[in-house]
Amino acid sequence: MTWHKLALLTDIPEDAALETGAAGQPLALYRVEGRVYCTGNLCTHAEAFLSDGFLEGHEIECPLHGARFDIRDGRVLCQPASKDIPTYPVRVEGGAVFVELP
Ligand code: FES
Repeated sequence: MTWHKLALLTDIPEDAALETGAAGQPLALYRVEGRVYCTGNLCTHAEAFLSDGFLEGHEIECPLHGARFDIRDGRVLCQPASKDIPTYPVRVEGGAVFVELP
């Protein structure tokens, strides 16, 4: 496991996801109620980018067919997706956002 610097805290909007990536993995960062979360950026239904979707509270909605996921634990919340998305540990230091990836 390695920590990767992915963004500055100020790069992440409060009401939308930030598309990013590291180690060949497409990732999305979110900032909700002062906390930062990181998930995989691909919907598990048909590979749309979740960062193009709609963030409401801790739920990200896929822009293609409307599946929703909890960004805190990656849990799928509604169909048509049936598989969870990965989530990764986040650390914020000096205004920089680091994510631990396998
Ligand atoms: S690609 Fe995300 S719900 Fe279909």
